[in-house]
Amino acid sequence: MKLERILPFARSLLERAISPGDIVIDATVGNGHDTVFLANLVGSNGRVYGFDIQEEAINNTKVRLEEQEWSEQVTLFQTGHENILATIPPLHHGKITGAVFNLGYLPGGDKEIVTKPVTTIEAIDQIIELLAPEGIIVIVIYHGHIEGAVERDYLLRYIRHLDQSIVHVLQYQFINQKNNPPFIIAIEKR
Ligand SMILES: C[S@@+](CC[C@H](N)C(=O)[O-])C[C@H]1O[C@@H](n2cnc3c(N)ncnc32)[C@H](O)[C@@H]1O
Repeated sequence: MKLERILPFARSLLERAISPGDIVIDATVGNGHDTVFLANLVGSNGRVYGFDIQEEAINNTKVRLEEQEWSEQVTLFQTGHENILATIPPLHHGKITGAVFNLGYLPGGDKEIVTKPVTTIEAIDQIIELLAPEGIIVIVIYHGHIEGAVERDYLLRYIRHLDQSIVHVLQYQFINQKNNPPFIIAIEKR
């Protein structure tokens, strides 16, 4: 059997949790690859809420969505994911079935603008509140750069102590590879 690699595994987890018509979150839209993937999963009756602090990321994602004709079911916000709870309409609280984070910097963009542990943790906490039962948060952690390694340590410390009566937490990681390849944390609401 072939062990599923990191990025395909992240997508498999989302595919298993998300159905057509669902409401989902892309917490770091970047160049929009995951936004398109989510838009495809929820279909024209669903909704993807996408967040990024950079105008460049929002614009790149808009273009990608328009090219693939997925714009209709996506709402993009140029604001930090730490504002997710205040931004998503109350109607959709408790209804989110999937959310994804790709931490780090915008590929091809400014490497100085990175996700930060405090705001990432705030966002995770808020999304746990918004999740439907069995909804999932998939976090891809890039720890090959210094800020990424710091963020990894903060996140793991925090995530290990999440109450097991509220969420299941999984770490999926190849542990004998060089150059700190990305790994996954998945949080499933009970
Ligand atoms: C690794 S990239 C995401 C890649 C993206 N998933 C893709 O498919 O291209 C991380 C993104 O997080 C964004 N970011 C940094 N801090 C943020 C915050 N507080 N809230 C939302 N996005 C943030 C960055 O601007 C960057 O575009």
